[in-house]
Amino acid sequence: MRTESKKATRWPTAVDLFSGCGAVTAGLKAARFKVLAAVDNDPVACLTYRSNHPSVHLIEEDIVRVDPQELKDTILTGRKLDLMAVCAPCQPFSSHQRIAGKDDRAQLILQSIKFARILNPKVILFENVPGLTAPRFDKLRARLAQGLKDAGYLVGSPTRLDAAEFGVPQRRARCIMLASKGQPPPPLPERNWTRTQETVRTAIGDLKVLQSGQADPNDVLHFARVHRPIAELRLQHIPKDGGSRDSLPSHLQLKCHKNHNGHPDVYGRMRWDAVAPTLTTGCTDLTRGRYAHPRDDRALTLREAARLQTFPDDYKFIGSSKDIASQIGNAVPMRLIAQLAPTLRIALSKQT
Ligand SMILES: C[S@@+](CC[C@H](N)C(=O)[O-])C[C@H]1O[C@@H](n2cnc3c(N)ncnc32)[C@H](O)[C@@H]1O
Repeated sequence: MRTESKKATRWPTAVDLFSGCGAVTAGLKAARFKVLAAVDNDPVACLTYRSNHPSVHLIEEDIVRVDPQELKDTILTGRKLDLMAVCAPCQPFSSHQRIAGKDDRAQLILQSIKFARILNPKVILFENVPGLTAPRFDKLRARLAQGLKDAGYLVGSPTRLDAAEFGVPQRRARCIMLASKGQPPPPLPERNWTRTQETVRTAIGDLKVLQSGQADPNDVLHFARVHRPIAELRLQHIPKDGGSRDSLPSHLQLKCHKNHNGHPDVYGRMRWDAVAPTLTTGCTDLTRGRYAHPRDDRALTLREAARLQTFPDDYKFIGSSKDIASQIGNAVPMRLIAQLAPTLRIALSKQT
């Protein structure tokens, strides 16, 4: 009889900086990484994080004040760290930023250098918006690369990916960058062809039909906002399945839109058989983008937004509706992270 020796495989260890409500941690856990610690300073997002990842050592603090040596002594206790994920706030790099380059939060990404020096992870994963590669951030990226180089890392080129190419039912362009200790990191895949493309229909089509103000008694996150009568009337005139506010009769058009071609997505409906547009923290607000339901005359519910960000239905969210919409809109789709895991493992396998 053939005896098979079951070799216990060690899960790679990880630390999640700017962990928010924990989507990156969830994606890493799904890909069999052991997340040891996380850092974020948003108290409500931290509540959500703790209720989903109780075994992770979460430091709720301004990252500038966190001492990586203390973190190392507490969590690594002699073990090596494989991966450090860094999802610094993307607002300063976003194309929606009103005063370009005037947001001090852009500097937060540089905090990763002090953690790299002390925690010494084998691989670092940076996730942000493509705006990070804009020429006005050349100096900042150069400071980041130099700081990491001084700590012994080689930084790969920032790569633009769309989460929709990785089985996420949402167009979400991201900038992903890897850094690897003493080695050039492997190239990132542009897509995962093995996954069928998910759409708005496959993600939310089975959820209960709701109109403005209605709620699904069996799902705490599936409740529709109460829209003003004028907003409901507008929605009734916007064609189902992808219609836009340019179909509104003149008397229902918003004053601010009458002579203005910008923001064409406001009041728009999503399309059933396409991916959703990029969800932001305003993803349940008709006035913040194409966030109307393809069929029902209402904005997306929190459940629909969570599904379009690939959160499983048993993920617990804590906070007000606005807090939860922010947590969902700020999250990195956990499926994207899980799909990048094979590349992370290749990067790790090249290290001793
Ligand atoms: C893009 S979100 C991270 C999303 C998260 N990785 C996820 O997948 O759910 C950026 C996070 O940075 C956090 N943040 C902003 N400034 C910070 C600071 N000074 N110290 C620690 N965390 C900070 C915010 O609270 C927010 O949760």
